[in-house]
This record gives sequence, structure tokens and C-alpha cells, in this order.
Amino acid sequence: MNELILEGILTTTNEDGTPHVAVMGAAVDPTGGVWFERMVLRPFGNTRTLMNLQRTDQAVFHVTDDARLLAQAAIGRLDPLPELVPTKAVRGWSLVDCCRWYALRVAKIEPPVPRADIEAEVVDREQIREFLGFNRAKHAIVEAAILATRAHFVSREALQAELARLAKPIQKTGGALEREALELLERYVQEATKGTS
Ligand SMILES: Cc1cc2nc3c(=O)[nH]c(=O)nc-3n(C[C@H](O)[C@H](O)[C@H](O)COP(=O)(O)O)c2cc1C
Repeated sequence: MNELILEGILTTTNEDGTPHVAVMGAAVDPTGGVWFERMVLRPFGNTRTLMNLQRTDQAVFHVTDDARLLAQAAIGRLDPLPELVPTKAVRGWSLVDCCRWYALRVAKIEPPVPRADIEAEVVDREQIREFLGFNRAKHAIVEAAILATRAHFVSREALQAELARLAKPIQKTGGALEREALELLERYVQEATKGTS
């Protein structure tokens, strides 16, 4: 299988019925275009996303080019949540502003070691708007956001060196939203590593 991992936003439903929004990778086969029939999700064992998927078997995966949203979601700074609407094919939520969404029904869950392996069928999908296109700043934000989620177990020096490297294409090729996302991630990493060396 010609598999690659798309980074996107996954919504699931919490026990109290409210939506949960997280950044998550989804393995897809892009050979036949973008209307994938299945996806594989790999949430870590300690995530709310996995708990919600185990309980409800349903989720919605979003392709987006909104780097600021991705950065905010990665560090848990989505207050308020982005605008969401209920989906019909699954009991879930789709982002009003995204490029495409895929409603997912879980077919199989392998236990987390340390990540679960979740095969999901796409039961509905929609294109909302076109993907903007390649942009170095947006892709650098994806990398910086991953780095931020590792802030608690990577050394402060290594984090800051990598962030400084990623800041260059963001400042050179990004717009206001990408620069705002960078500032958000830089502040988060600074706070998370305060007092460490
Ligand atoms: C680009 C990107 C991709 C990510 N992919 C995954 C993933 O595949 N599995 C995972 O468990 N966490 C992934 N994360 C980290 C989660 O977004 C983060 O840990 C989040 O808090 C999920 O936990 P939660 O469900 O408890 O909110 C990713 C983060 C980023 C920035």
C-alpha cells in the first residue's frame, strides 16, 4: 500500500456530549485521489482522543491549511473552540472552516503499545474549500507544533535551537496567522521549560 500520513484535526465526542478537538495524523493511501475509503489513526494510550474513540467508535478527520488552529489545538489552547456543526453520518462534529472532512467509523482497534492502531472506514466526506497550497511557513508550524507537544521531555536547548531554525521560513514566507502561531508556540515552550536547563 502507498501509505502516507496526513496531519489534520480530529474531532471526537466526550462522555458529556461535548466535542473534543485534537491534532492527529491519519495514514491514508493517496493513490486514487483524496476521497479515501479508510484511514488508520494512531493515538497514544493516554489521550482523550483514544478514550473517546474506544467509547463511541466515531470521529471526524479534517484536512486544513489553518496553521494557527493546528498550533492552538496542539497545545490545548482552543478557547473558545472553533465553530463546529454536528455531522449526520456519525454522531460527531465537523469544523465549519476546513478544506475537507471525513466522517469515520472505527472498524478495528489494536491496543496501545504505546500507540493504538485504529482502522476506520470513511462513511461520509465533504469538500468545504480548496487547500491553499504549499507554504514553507505553514509546514514549519506543523513541525514546531509537534516539537511543542514534546516540550516536557526534550531539553530546553534542543527545543529552542529547533524553534529558531523553524522560525526562519515562518518569518520569511508566512503571513500574520503563521507568525501568530509561531509566537504562541514559542511562548508555550518557554513556559513549559521554565526552570529547566
Ligand atoms: C502535527 C501533529 C500530529 C500529531 N499526531 C498525533 C498522533 O498521530 N497520535 C497522537 O496520539 N498524538 C498526536 N499528536 C499530539 C496530539 O495532538 C496531542 O497529544 C493531543 O493532546 C492529543 O491528546 P488528547 O486527545 O488527550 O487531546 C500530534 C500533534 C501534532 C502537532
